[in-house]
Amino acid sequence: MTWTIRLFHKCQQKHFINTRAFLHSYKNDVERVQNSQPDKPAIILGVESSCDETGCGIVDSTGTILGEAISSQQLNHLNFGGIIPTIAQMLHRDNITKVCEDALQSANLKLRDVDAIATTVKPGIRPSLGIGTKFGKYLAKIGNKPFIPIHHMEAHALTARIQEKVDFPYLVLLISGGHCLLGIVESTNKFYLLGTTKDNAPGEVFDKIARRLKLRNIPEFNTLSGGQALEIAASKATDINQFAFSPIMTRLYDCNFSFAGIQSTCKRYIQFEEEKHNIIADMLIPDVYNLCAAFQLAAITHVCQRTQRAMKFIEKMSLFPENKRTLVISGGVACNNLLAKALSIVCSELGYKFIRTPPKLCTDNGIMIAWNGVEKWITGTDIITDPCEIEKVEIEPKASFGENWIQRVQAANVKCEWIPIKRKLY
Ligand code: KG4
Ligand code: ZN
Repeated sequence: MTWTIRLFHKCQQKHFINTRAFLHSYKNDVERVQNSQPDKPAIILGVESSCDETGCGIVDSTGTILGEAISSQQLNHLNFGGIIPTIAQMLHRDNITKVCEDALQSANLKLRDVDAIATTVKPGIRPSLGIGTKFGKYLAKIGNKPFIPIHHMEAHALTARIQEKVDFPYLVLLISGGHCLLGIVESTNKFYLLGTTKDNAPGEVFDKIARRLKLRNIPEFNTLSGGQALEIAASKATDINQFAFSPIMTRLYDCNFSFAGIQSTCKRYIQFEEEKHNIIADMLIPDVYNLCAAFQLAAITHVCQRTQRAMKFIEKMSLFPENKRTLVISGGVACNNLLAKALSIVCSELGYKFIRTPPKLCTDNGIMIAWNGVEKWITGTDIITDPCEIEKVEIEPKASFGENWIQRVQAANVKCEWIPIKRKLY
């Protein structure tokens, strides 16, 4: 256990107040950093707390994951059917010290061995972001390390590059419980937003429908997220055509998403089935698996169509070289295997290489923050060394992703002939 971080925990209870004693205890660490060798790979510690995962990852500039730890609040929030910000904040506060100690321990490193502290400061849930940011700043201060502020979505967009050579530019689909967006990654620091969700995020909708269907009453699902449960339930369907869902946003030739319509259609089906079969209390509707499958397919088809339009837009504008086109997907919903299969079909039809970020790194984690820190370290971007400047960094619960090209996409008016996803999947 690294006693130095433990001191932070005590300090946390006093509202993160630093004392001379803390700084003095780090004197030796500071001297070691100053004497560190310039030719050895840089080591970045990443702190993530934007939503309901408290994560810490340690990655070096060769892309080697040296250590990691995560504490998930998923089970705590499952009971409430959504994330309660004050509870999330409390759990981040309770766990962040231990998570970072564990990450350092798993890497067999001390804080003094780290070259910089990367921390998610935007976007996210305000009280959650606040804890990680204070903690990251604290580590930077007591360790006399540079601080690297990280945009959570940019980190998701770049994570696949840890383990695989993904050349710029590429198309990215970020799909999770808080977001759904299509964008172009031009470089480590340059992004363009092609489309985003107009209402709910898909993971949030999966979670709500799973809850409304009472999937947790089926023992095999009761510790899973709504999205995970719904995917497994859908795989048990016997009739994919029993419930019909209308196509989404067919008259809007853009890359924006909408999931509110399929959510309300699904809720109507549940209500209807419950009344028809006199379903009460903890009982489930009889054709629950068929409804899961039809709902999931409607969501996947929508995502595939918007992605197909993004690819056509890129082609129309000649944005990517012809023989080097890549789609990267990340975010919690990218763990969905049927979605990955459907998107790989879209990619092979349109001449794209398909890269799914390793599922373990799709959901929120500290490694992706550390990796974004590495990319910034290598390019010399956003590295803050002045303690006063570090102190001034503020969290931004709402932060846009790159340059907004949504209107540009709309103006291009790209019509598509849809790839028959359903026929190709089933
Ligand atoms: O990226 P993430 O860990 O956190 C944020 O929302 O930012 O994503 C969590 C979301 C949850 O809504 C969860 O239900 C969804 O990802 N999810 C899935 C699957 N696994 C996780 N959704 C559909 N299919 C899955 N297999
Ligand atoms: Zn995320």
